[in-house]
Amino acid sequence: MKSINTTVQAGGSMNGVVTVPGDKSCSHRAVIFASLAEGDSTISGFLAGEDSLNTAQAFQSMGVSIERFDETNLKIKGVGLHGLKAPTDPVYMGNAGTGMRLIAGVLAAQPFSSTITGDESLSRRPMGRIIQPLQKMGADISGDDQGKPPLKINPVATINAIHYDLPVASAQVKSCVLLAGLFADGEVSVTEPAPTRDHTERMLRSFGYSVETRGNRISMQGKGKLRGCDLIVPADISSAAFILVAATIARNSDVTILGVGVNPTRTGVIEILRLMGADIEISNERLSGDEPIADIRVKSADLKGIDVPEHLVPLAIDELPVVFVAASVAHGTTRVTGAEELRVKESDRIAAMAEGLAAIGVDATATADGMIINQSQIAGGVVETHFDHRIAMSFCVAALCSSGPITVNDTQHIETSFPGFFELMSKLGMNVNNAG
Ligand code: S3P
Repeated sequence: MKSINTTVQAGGSMNGVVTVPGDKSCSHRAVIFASLAEGDSTISGFLAGEDSLNTAQAFQSMGVSIERFDETNLKIKGVGLHGLKAPTDPVYMGNAGTGMRLIAGVLAAQPFSSTITGDESLSRRPMGRIIQPLQKMGADISGDDQGKPPLKINPVATINAIHYDLPVASAQVKSCVLLAGLFADGEVSVTEPAPTRDHTERMLRSFGYSVETRGNRISMQGKGKLRGCDLIVPADISSAAFILVAATIARNSDVTILGVGVNPTRTGVIEILRLMGADIEISNERLSGDEPIADIRVKSADLKGIDVPEHLVPLAIDELPVVFVAASVAHGTTRVTGAEELRVKESDRIAAMAEGLAAIGVDATATADGMIINQSQIAGGVVETHFDHRIAMSFCVAALCSSGPITVNDTQHIETSFPGFFELMSKLGMNVNNAG
């Protein structure tokens, strides 16, 4: 992939009414469930980003017909739980941890062998967390000697029912077990140490599959049927988060983002920013299928540093990099703890953010499980993104409150989750120089 470096000029205001692309988590799941369903499904609001497109391509390589009417509207002819065909090549998931971990749950139960690979960043990410429960279910799956990709899977006669206590609060692991559970003999259940995004559970229900959630325990019976349906993917709150912080820290800003997914397992970023003093108004709350959506209005505000409550960390895990940017200009000190999962995302996000914040003049100290950030005048400078889309977008946002320009190296990876980021941010008022 060609390297693109982007300079964002200092300052500016953010104003306007916009929509952001479809939710990445829901887009992956929509393709997976629609492919395994009986009958046709339509998906609108699909994220036409590299991650979710790789998931679509993976199912096409296993014989699923996926028709794209335009960027965001798809029709998928489901092949049922037992209709996938052996792919001729390794299944390539690009940069997507979600894609790899969820598809592994499906492929572990197929009557054919498969290999799942990814790009350089994905090849460094831990897969032991899904290999272990899948092996407990009787699957024949392995990674390299450190439990990293590529994943190699061989067919087994049966997938066993299990109860699995998740050792980490991870929606990807939960979803992987539930997806394998579709093929299991009997009941499969998981217990979460803390609530994580529940899109899998909601979407199973949209496809007519019964799942029970009781407190932190989720259970389902294997060997049911998924029925094709018409699904609308909500706009991604993780993408909206960059605008929420941008409009908060830029002067004289007032932005409304329409139809954003506000599933309570995803709104940690709003709660954190509000605790810091952000001016965020949620209106027009409604249901879009099984997912709640709303319009979100955000205006400039003075922020104060806080100790981020740990229970909000899994509910804002992907938004913490941009929360660190908000914390950089918040009065006093902000402390984030209990966020060690950030170290195993598309990059080590604690290290990448600490390095980038230091490079632009912010007083930030990385800790084993988070960050301590003191209010600073962001000076500007050059930052490395470590090929991580959210690190790239976070530092672009930082320029709105800096005294000098910020050059963000390798912004090309923004395409994995937020196609059109620079066009949209420029329209709102960000001064982007040489956007790729
Ligand atoms: C996701 C779950 C989270 C999140 C990721 C998407 C999902 O990962 O960081 O971007 O769609 O299930 P973990 O499950 O590893 O926390």
